[in-house]
Amino acid sequence: MTSRYHEVYKSWEEDPEAFWAKAGEEIDWSKPAEKIFDPEMGMYGRWFAGAETNTCYNCVDRHVERGRPGQPAIIYDSPITGAKRTITYQELLSEVEALAAVLREKGIEKGDRVIVYMPMVPEALFAMLACARLGAVHSVVFGGFAANELATRVNDCEPKAIISASCGIEPNRVVKYKPLLDQALDIARHQPEFCLVVQREQGPCELTEGRDYDYLELVEAAKNAGTKVPPVPVAATDPLYILYTSGTTGRPKGVVRDNGGHMVALKWSMKAIYDIDPGEVFWAASDVGWVVGHSYIVYAPLLHGCTTIVFEGKPVGTPDAGVFWRVIEEHKVSALFTAPTAFRAIKKEDPQGEHVGRYDLSQMRTLFLAGERADPDTIRWAQDQLGVPVVDHWWQTETAWAIAANPAGLGLLPVKYGSPTVAMPGYKIEILDDAGHPVGPNTLGNIVVKLPLPPACLPTLWNADERFKESYLLEFPGYYKTADAGMLDDEGYVYVMSRTDDIINVAGHRLSTGAMEEVLSNHPDVAECAVIGAADALKGQMPMGFVVLKSGRDRDPLEIQKECIRLVREEIGPVAAFKTVHVVHRLPKTRSGKILRATMRHIVDHEDFRMPATIDDPAILDEIKGVVEHVDQMRVS
Ligand code: COA
Ligand code: AMP
Repeated sequence: MTSRYHEVYKSWEEDPEAFWAKAGEEIDWSKPAEKIFDPEMGMYGRWFAGAETNTCYNCVDRHVERGRPGQPAIIYDSPITGAKRTITYQELLSEVEALAAVLREKGIEKGDRVIVYMPMVPEALFAMLACARLGAVHSVVFGGFAANELATRVNDCEPKAIISASCGIEPNRVVKYKPLLDQALDIARHQPEFCLVVQREQGPCELTEGRDYDYLELVEAAKNAGTKVPPVPVAATDPLYILYTSGTTGRPKGVVRDNGGHMVALKWSMKAIYDIDPGEVFWAASDVGWVVGHSYIVYAPLLHGCTTIVFEGKPVGTPDAGVFWRVIEEHKVSALFTAPTAFRAIKKEDPQGEHVGRYDLSQMRTLFLAGERADPDTIRWAQDQLGVPVVDHWWQTETAWAIAANPAGLGLLPVKYGSPTVAMPGYKIEILDDAGHPVGPNTLGNIVVKLPLPPACLPTLWNADERFKESYLLEFPGYYKTADAGMLDDEGYVYVMSRTDDIINVAGHRLSTGAMEEVLSNHPDVAECAVIGAADALKGQMPMGFVVLKSGRDRDPLEIQKECIRLVREEIGPVAAFKTVHVVHRLPKTRSGKILRATMRHIVDHEDFRMPATIDDPAILDEIKGVVEHVDQMRVS
């Protein structure tokens, strides 16, 4: 089939408002938009200004009203606990209404914030949807973050309530959430009025009297009372959620998502990008704590009337490298979306694909990869094993959906390995040099998107308009700065090579080296430090720290290394995967005192590099090389 991509992209370019107005017809509005795009509103204009709607109604009620009450909305498959549960749209409505009744009874109203700190259980989705139903703003915090990160988010968005669970389950341990929640609230300046806790049999917890309530008990009581909670109409431009993501410092950025534009873009993407029809099973093997989970475990598949999979497990080890294929066969999954790391992990365990052959994957049409650069080897291996097209697509927490993709529903374009293909309608991608001048094809530069951003992209940062402007709009006036570096080729294919800031990507998780440096510099023996992202065959990148000790400290460096590793785990969380730190005498710097992190990264990755002209003392690079070579040798021997 020839691709309709160019025709569709052109129709958007010619009349963006008509394009999105048409896409908006797929959404139920309680009040239509006065303006499809209002350039005067917000930081760069707002989509669907004046419209009213409710995201929960569009995800749940309307499918119950229009022929899908008995269709599974959610399939929970938890190889880590052995649990499985199918929830129809009718049952989903009843769960969400009951929880919304509990929240409303406890005082949650439109505009209130609610933090959701939960593992991959269906209640996490019920919580998000119940908030959306009431017009409350949820903020989901990933379970792998430590108490301190949770406290930072509590202070920033000041939630009226927190919905959590007694524990999450990792292959090697039960992660007790309750002590983390208590610790976070001990540190936090702001206190929620109440917490709801899902008690899990794998690790129930004591509830704090007067603050904590048993989620399941209250929901059961609300179901028995049969209280109906109608969806609350909200402005299309009102916030649906806040999702914190790494910035260049320890302070995360609260990405705001609206209700109207978000639904329009996500609904459009389900057919055009993912080639999925209502009624089909769509599986995003991620976590609700990340943007992929928000968009493609929860909102997009439900908006589209699909069945979504809530998978509580890992690609390998729960129980083996065949678990993805088992889930695809058992639940008749049409498209899988995951991070390249998951495939690298499977390939490492099962290079010959012996597990793949044991399952019937004939239902599956496409594999989608995102979250990090997809290396051609992994793409080829996945293609060979599964015999379906593998689509790499590029996006960010800030955008909620793909900036660039190979749109399966419009007809696939020829694949160029290493490129997530072309800009999606809504995005005009350009490459600028550091002075803001456009560069030609096949030339590396800053990847920017011409304003306005399309529907679903962040309108601002939570309570931080100025930070939003400084972070994204000021450096290249008229454009959104993606902070990714890359190029366009002469056919408009985009290549995303690296970040232009200090953010690294570990197993598809976005982490701030700045945040890790802030933690290390709090160690009493550390005078200065640098954290870089070293290339890693499995996870793409792994953080690596270098610390210089205060003069006169003669403690065992091994002890200090262990303490540094423990500090990062305690302050940021296990997800930081901070496992390597070197004690060095000095850090390489420019004459003005800037640490040469990029040069250090080249050394660690054994890449060629040009000696920076501004380096203060080139001999320090030899010291760094010496340390790295010593560690490499130890690893080999
Ligand atoms: N709650 C608590 N801890 C968590 C957690 C959670 N929800 N998720 C991860 N962690 C912990 C892990 O247990 C691990 O702890 P450890 O240092 O004690 O072993 C640490 O955080 C690092 O986790 P991760 O980077 O996921 O590595 P891993 O070694 O546990 O697993 C993979 C490796 C490849 C199996 C895993 O990274 C994976 O499934 N990746 C797929 C990519 C993906 O889903 N990306 C999401 C964005 S699309
Ligand atoms: P996050 O906000 O966590 O989704 O991370 C977004 C960042 O991940 C982007 O800015 C990129 O650096 C990287 N990224 C995501 N998808 C891709 C991809 N397909 N190719 C290359 N990098 C990607």
